[in-house]
Amino acid sequence: MKKISQIMVAIGLAFTCSCHQGEDVLPDDTYVFKKPDYFPEPTYTFVNNPITRQGFELGKRLFNDPILSSDNSVACSNCHVKSVAFTDPQHRLSLGVEERPGIRNAPSIVNMAFMPEFFWDGGVNHLDFVAINAIENPLEMNEKLGHVIAKLNDHPDYPALFRKAFSTPDTITSPYFLHALSQFMLLIVSDQSKYDRVIRNQATFTSAEIAGKEVFENKCSTCHPAPLFTTFGYANNGLDTAFEDLGRGRISESSVDEGKFKIPTLRNIALTSPYMHDGRYQTLDEVLDHYDQHVLPSATLDPFFKQSDPPGIRLSPDEKEKLKTFLQTLTDYELLKNPIF
Ligand code: HEC
Ligand code: HEC
Repeated sequence: MKKISQIMVAIGLAFTCSCHQGEDVLPDDTYVFKKPDYFPEPTYTFVNNPITRQGFELGKRLFNDPILSSDNSVACSNCHVKSVAFTDPQHRLSLGVEERPGIRNAPSIVNMAFMPEFFWDGGVNHLDFVAINAIENPLEMNEKLGHVIAKLNDHPDYPALFRKAFSTPDTITSPYFLHALSQFMLLIVSDQSKYDRVIRNQATFTSAEIAGKEVFENKCSTCHPAPLFTTFGYANNGLDTAFEDLGRGRISESSVDEGKFKIPTLRNIALTSPYMHDGRYQTLDEVLDHYDQHVLPSATLDPFFKQSDPPGIRLSPDEKEKLKTFLQTLTDYELLKNPIF
């Protein structure tokens, strides 16, 4: 009798708990990958890893679980914080286990489904492989993938969660683990900013925003074109004259790529400070001052900046204000509020 009533209480609790999270009011297509028609086709091959609610939820739990690191102290979410579009608001260079500083600033992981290559240097060409790099990097999670899989197999919850998500045999293997993490990241599509609502005729820009958009289109969109505000290419935007971090040159081993970095998306840019691959700028004002006044010459500096002398993009104080006003329209507050993440 006592046992039965305990079970009833447990069921009751489970029920209350799911109502609390509001899960039952979510629309049926919540866990379906959706993109607006003005976005490019995704690069991710969904047929090999179809998204399900169970797979997504498992990926979310893994993403937030420090069990992925050697000393169980660092989760993916330490460096990719949801409230700031999954970047790291605190550290110029990311901070791994034992407070080890990395070499680069943690980028936003919104719209990863559309990205052809990953990392500031494009060193990883498939989303499923990104996690291995983070886990095995001694300056990040400092763990071995095989050991993470062993820890998950020994865990009280994970084996059942993997079986539910993938109808797998008894043991967890790395492909399923990587697929679950990708399922979580793939649904992080940022397409609800004011900019998007204007494109969809659900809102209108103020005159200041229109003026900002015009400056942006004249001076920035060669490299940061809508709708994702990146060409996905690599460029040297004049941060240095000599390169401690070779960037794209590290991967291609070609001198013409030294000092080039992946052109970052500007979606949610008002939230994703600090800026640049090494997080050297704290504010958008500093970034705009860089383009206006501090672009440095080097062999691989992008020709776009050489149209001015000294090289750069001249911006008046008024243009800078207008640009900042426009950049604010790229912030997706709906994404940050979305309870599923
Ligand atoms: C210690 C901080 C840290 C942790 C922990 C971390 N990351 Fe990252 N992440 C970074 C940094 C820094 C980069 C950029 C790396 C580079 O360019 O070399 C990055 C890049 C990425 C990218 C590519 C983004 C892009 O635009 O190219 C993805 C996706 C990503 N991380 C996902 C994850 C996942 C999944 C985990 C957990 C398995 C994780 N990260 C753990 C710091 C971290
Ligand atoms: C020739 C290509 C090019 C042009 C033109 C250009 N950018 Fe960039 N931008 C880049 C590259 C490359 C980076 C990353 C550089 C790095 O981190 O080493 C970058 C980085 C940024 C960042 C930091 C993003 C982050 O997540 O850290 C901002 C903000 C930015 N650009 C805004 C602008 C604005 C505003 C303009 C126009 C005034 C502009 N850019 C013009 C190539 C360009």
